[in-house]
This record gives sequence, structure tokens and C-alpha cells, in this order.
Amino acid sequence: MITSPFSLQTKNIVITGASSGIGRSVAIECSRAGATVFLLARNQERLEETFSQLSPGNHRMAVSDLKDLANLESTAAALLPGGSQVFGMVHAAGAIFTAPFSMTRPKHFESLYAVNVIAGFELARILSQKKYVDLQTGGSYVFISSISALHGQQGAVAYASSKGALLAGVRSMALELTVKKIRVNAVSPGIVKTPMADTLFDSLPGEAAEQLLKQHPLGFGDPQDVAFSCIYLMSEAGRWITGQNLVTDGGYSI
Ligand SMILES: NC(=O)c1ccc[n+]([C@@H]2O[C@H](COP(=O)([O-])OP(=O)(O)OC[C@H]3O[C@@H](n4cnc5c(N)ncnc54)[C@H](OP(=O)(O)O)[C@@H]3O)[C@@H](O)[C@H]2O)c1
Repeated sequence: MITSPFSLQTKNIVITGASSGIGRSVAIECSRAGATVFLLARNQERLEETFSQLSPGNHRMAVSDLKDLANLESTAAALLPGGSQVFGMVHAAGAIFTAPFSMTRPKHFESLYAVNVIAGFELARILSQKKYVDLQTGGSYVFISSISALHGQQGAVAYASSKGALLAGVRSMALELTVKKIRVNAVSPGIVKTPMADTLFDSLPGEAAEQLLKQHPLGFGDPQDVAFSCIYLMSEAGRWITGQNLVTDGGYSI
């Protein structure tokens, strides 16, 4: 019997970016909450490291570059055992590019949008096909956006705009997928201590990193903080929430 409204027992959940940071934590916490998880990322060794930390279950993983959009359908089919239905998806795969606007070229937008936006939306389209959806239980998809979609940041035009595109797409997708009882939401983290945040800090002068820390009244986040927001949105506790953006930022945007 399922007792907690935050349980993910019996739910199959696909997680992109599961080889590192937020996606890894989402995978681990979802498995702890009872889900069967299906993991995607490019780096096999790091995916296996995540896999080794999952609670026991019939979990699976596949090495895949999400920018290979033409292969996403076959990747999903290979990842999911025949006849599997998918309840949840968390699109945590993402890349960052930090540079002054004057040095931000179309190729930088294209590269970021391919993984941050288009791959996530294409995977959602694939997983929302009849063959993967249980129309009784529906589903819940979560896209990891960023506080940079809502608050201007220096050097972040390409990254911030890709994250803003996610928020806009989430609202329209949420409306379209209600007919299949699939809820669609975003989570927008502030700075979370992951390898991506380390890359950001490497590009900033020391005092800028200090300043960023001061702007987070509860300090920088842990990947688990974002994972818990995702679990809330995918669990029964979030059953009346769709088309929303759950800001999870330690008070950055207050
Ligand atoms: N950390 C923060 O402060 C922060 C704040 C706001 C939002 N976010 C967002 O949170 C998400 C996770 O970020 P993170 O901090 O956990 O970063 P991270 O530790 O660098 O992890 C990024 C993940 O994305 C995967 N990935 C990147 N490109 C891929 C591709 N082409 N195909 C498949 N997988 C790909 C990476 O896996 P492989 O390298 O193995 O492919 C990795 O698992 C991102 O969308 C990021 O924009 C992060």
C-alpha cells in the first residue's frame, strides 16, 4: 500500500543528464522514493557511478548524445523494455555558455538550444505518444530551467534565453497534454553546487562569486534540493499543478 503522497512507487521515470549534478541526484532520490528510473547521458562511466547509487529496482541506463535528435526515438525504445509505459520525465541535461553578448554567436545559441530545449521537448513528444502513456494514471514531466530565465545576468544571453524558452514551452505543452492527464512543469534553481556551477565560477572573478553567494540568503543549493522539488511535482502531492515554474533558489529571487 502506498502511504505517502510523495511516494513514486510503481512509477517509471526517464531522467536526462543523470550522469552528474542535479540529474544524478534526481535519479537517486526518485529511486529512493520507489520509482523505476531510466537514465540518459553521454558519459558511460559517470552514468554507471549514478547507477551504483540507486536503491534496488529494475532500473536501466543508456549512453546517448541528446543532440542526436534523429536517434532519440530509437534511444527511448532501446532504453525502455518492450511495452513499458512512462509516467515521469525529468529533463536535467543541460549545457552552459558564459560570454559577453558581443562574443555570443549563432553557433552558441544553436548548441545550447539543442540540448537545453529541443532535446527535452522532443523527448517529451516521444514519451507522450499513446504507446508510452497510461491514460488512467497520466504522467508528469519536469524541465529544469534556471533562475536566469527570470533575472538578468551578465554574460548569459544564450543560456538565459534557452531557459526562458523552456518556461514558455512548458506552459503551452501543459495545456496540450491535459487530454492525456500529463502534467508539465518547470523547476528553476538558483546556484546549485555541481560541476556546472564550478564551470560558471571559473569564468567569474573572485568577488563576483562572493557576491553571488550573498544573493542566496539560504546559501547555494545542493542537487538534492532540486531533486526534492522534482519529486513533489511528479508525486501525488503535486496532482493539481501543471504549467507552473517552481522556483527553488534559496531566496535569490525574493
Ligand atoms: N548548477 C546550477 O547552479 C544550475 C542552476 C540552474 C539550472 N541548472 C540546470 O540544471 C541542469 C543540470 O545542471 P547541473 O548543474 O547538474 O550540470 P552538470 O553537473 O554539468 O550536468 C549536466 C548533465 O547534462 C548532461 N548533458 C549535457 N549535454 C548533453 C548531451 N548533449 N547529451 C546528453 N546529456 C548531456 C551531462 O551528461 P554527459 O556529460 O554525461 O553527457 C550531465 O549529466 C541543467 O539544465 C542546468 O542548466 C543548474
